Amino acid sequence: MNEKLKSEIERRRTFAIIAHPDAGKTTLTEKLLLYGGAIQLAGAVKARKERRSATSDWMAMEKERGISITSAALQFEYKNYVLNLLDTPGHEDFSEDTYRTLIAADSAVMVLDAAKGVEPQTRKLFKVCKDRGIPIITFINKMDRPAKNLFGLLDEIEEVLKITAIPQVWPIGSGFDFKGVYDRKEKQVHLFEKTPGGAHIAPVNVSGINDPTLDAKIEPDLLKQVREEVDLLEHGIEQFDKEKFLNGKITPVFFGSAVNNFGIQLFLDNFLELAPAPYHIPLEDGNFLDPVNSSFSGFVFKVQANMNKVHRDRIAFIRVCSGKFERGLTVNHNRLEKSVKLSSSFAFFGQDRNTIDEAYPGDIIGLINPGTFRIGDILAESVPPAIRPLPVFPPELFATISCTDTLSLKSFKKGIEQLAEEGILRIYSSKQIGSGNPIVGAMGQLQFEVFQRRLLDEYNVKTNLQMLPYTVCRWVKANCVNDVPSLANQVFDKDGRLALLFEGEWEFQYFQKNNPKIELVENPEYV
Ligand code: G4P
Repeated sequence: MNEKLKSEIERRRTFAIIAHPDAGKTTLTEKLLLYGGAIQLAGAVKARKERRSATSDWMAMEKERGISITSAALQFEYKNYVLNLLDTPGHEDFSEDTYRTLIAADSAVMVLDAAKGVEPQTRKLFKVCKDRGIPIITFINKMDRPAKNLFGLLDEIEEVLKITAIPQVWPIGSGFDFKGVYDRKEKQVHLFEKTPGGAHIAPVNVSGINDPTLDAKIEPDLLKQVREEVDLLEHGIEQFDKEKFLNGKITPVFFGSAVNNFGIQLFLDNFLELAPAPYHIPLEDGNFLDPVNSSFSGFVFKVQANMNKVHRDRIAFIRVCSGKFERGLTVNHNRLEKSVKLSSSFAFFGQDRNTIDEAYPGDIIGLINPGTFRIGDILAESVPPAIRPLPVFPPELFATISCTDTLSLKSFKKGIEQLAEEGILRIYSSKQIGSGNPIVGAMGQLQFEVFQRRLLDEYNVKTNLQMLPYTVCRWVKANCVNDVPSLANQVFDKDGRLALLFEGEWEFQYFQKNNPKIELVENPEYV
């Protein structure tokens, strides 16, 4: 066995942070980077907005709206661990890209706002993690603000997300009365103080929550309440079981305040211990890929055009699944069934890029993509492993798109082709709908806005968008294509596969009833 490869795998943690917008994902990301030394302490809080644009959010629109639309992977080292943090966009409209990024993670951190609990976007993202068997660690943020009832919050996680929530630390008060957290495992009290620049105050060692040392530090009423609560935790709830956590049955819960830098280090140290190393890439046959005893393999989970306006190139992001990657490696490409030399490989930190000479399972590498790589492609030194395909989310909103200036037609075509490659939305053509203009399909309205904005910014093309009344898209199985009635709303995707658009579920059902022989599928890979 390759010992070096094994030890590199074991020190890697590849994870994503999931949250409803505003819960504190960006703040927590920043604080983790701060601890990892990936960003400087000085001005960390004040320059937050500017630094946002310098790290993972690089698009003008993101800055304007204060939301994160594109995803990036950031690598940093902390205590001899190598952390690969996948930055997942958090806006509720902008989903497919986020969902796909999660597939490249081995674990996820779920950030909840203590005053809001489980919000809709968290629920959706959580479901993808659960379906994929990705273990989830919960960080309840904004404890310096008035919080919901804490046991109520745990119940909410259990009821809404169907996962057992087990606190690893317990907060001492909340809002104005927030005094810190009690670490149940280490029997330590971390007292909360607003420290400038995020300096860390040493925890107080105690023999347990009933230790008299605490009487001098915390007001009697609050202490009494916390002692009762901790007692309830010790005796009234299920104990933490790592196996159940790794199988997605349990989520360990931490509390803190990201903006105040409180509870972050405690969280991070526990996270490193709890989160799995990259061993769990599921294969189609239900088994897992062995990252140590297989040669290099990886899959494309993200494609991005014009990441940097100066370079103007397209990048494909690969998640390494097994073996060691070395720059210059020649690999087999599963879809194209040919070999490809991977000579230009990069790591990204916002706008900056560094050449990567080697990478290990769990790592993310960016490859210059002259159109060779698509989302879902598998690359491998030997026979590409049958990695379970990425889930597909059919679009639910449709529109025709046209370019307002005929002189820009060439750029328009190039723009929609390249942006469609990223999977922001799907492009169709149709003889019946849209008077010859391309049809675009997306999961949310914001995707259209981003698309138009990027066509303007990156390709200098002004466009008009006209919404269409369809909400359901189904692909026609190849053997039924000739039986489709001419009246149906036929469209062809960019690979020439026939799909039908329906105005609603009822219309789709009606069609199926009247055309029982025509097989329709949600996932175009299965036509
Ligand atoms: P997101 O990426 O999940 O959308 O959330 P983000 O980190 O941008 O945080 C949303 C808001 O919540 C920010 O305030 C941020 O400062 C604040 N916040 C994050 N963590 C905490 C916390 O622990 N306690 C409190 N009280 N607030 C927190 P903002 O006013 O929108 O932005 P800014 O002016 O602070 O930059």
